[in-house]
Amino acid sequence: MSTTENPTSHESEQNPESFEDPGVPYHRPRRADVDPKAEKKAERQVAALFGVSIVGTIVAVGAYMVLDMTDEIESIRFTNMVIGLGIFLAMIGIGLGAIHWAKTLMRDHEMVEERHELRSSDEAREGAIQNLKDGAEDSGISGVKRRPLLVGTGVLALLAAPLAVLWPQIGNMGADWNTSNFGHTMWRKGTRLARDPDGTPIKASDVTIGSAFHVIPEGLNELEHHKIEEKAKAVVLLLRLDPRDLKIQEGREDWSFDGIVAYSKICTHVGCPVALYEQQTHHLLCPCHQSTFDVADGAKVVFGPAKRPLPQLPIAVDEEGYIVAQSDFHEPIGPSYWTRLKDTSDGLHADETEEGGH
Ligand code: FES
Repeated sequence: MSTTENPTSHESEQNPESFEDPGVPYHRPRRADVDPKAEKKAERQVAALFGVSIVGTIVAVGAYMVLDMTDEIESIRFTNMVIGLGIFLAMIGIGLGAIHWAKTLMRDHEMVEERHELRSSDEAREGAIQNLKDGAEDSGISGVKRRPLLVGTGVLALLAAPLAVLWPQIGNMGADWNTSNFGHTMWRKGTRLARDPDGTPIKASDVTIGSAFHVIPEGLNELEHHKIEEKAKAVVLLLRLDPRDLKIQEGREDWSFDGIVAYSKICTHVGCPVALYEQQTHHLLCPCHQSTFDVADGAKVVFGPAKRPLPQLPIAVDEEGYIVAQSDFHEPIGPSYWTRLKDTSDGLHADETEEGGH
């Protein structure tokens, strides 16, 4: 190894403002370093935190298996809250346990590494390996006999924690894969368009030019089963434009009423609710990835990653002046899926020509 000049002393000769290296501050031993009782206490605290993590995992997995989630929003909220709480405890227990272990029990001596050639000397390499071994020995990782409680609970917590996340995911794989459910919604001939969320029907006279209504099918709130799923598919935006601004699509001459049009609220990109309406430009914006649809022109895509217009709901007005659906949507709502259908009256024929599927 070549002898090199000390750069610090050379620098201080050239630069009078440089100062002496203050060195490493005095090392103060922690209580756990000098008091075996404090060390045992810290060890128990770390084990308790790992125990919290294990309990969290049991809560999350147990809640997923035991709690009977119904269609009621309260039931969905409660189940998700308990599973989420379990996952939170599972993760935070491991995190805090590891931090507490490092701060109270692992060696905390300040280390200084002098700069020199990049490759360490053989002695330094052997020293580093020895340091790692010492560190492992010091932390108790390799000393199962010395800290069996810590190692045991730590390993158990690490093995169990992924279950809190994976179990519900794997469990959901057994869900309903029948894609024909996506092809139909609650809308039927004569179903009134109602305000979301109170479900009161909307008269044509309520819809002034420039206004926008968030709409659900009348009767949705009274459903006893699958209310959330049906709502997720059937939500609609109802808007009124100046009829002179509307470009009526071929074959859809009677799908609107005096400038009032209804489009699915589910973005055709990946299914976020499209809810931002810019009445001057007649543009509907999806907040997720900024797909923009032109309501005046069949809700065609004018910007963003969506590849298809929003499906239009054909509407009419009944004898009492309420806006009603003429039928279900004529195509499946929402994003693409492997058997997605398009522009067919029953929505049941695979689309060969669809562009830009995902
Ligand atoms: S979900 Fe609407 S733009 Fe992506």
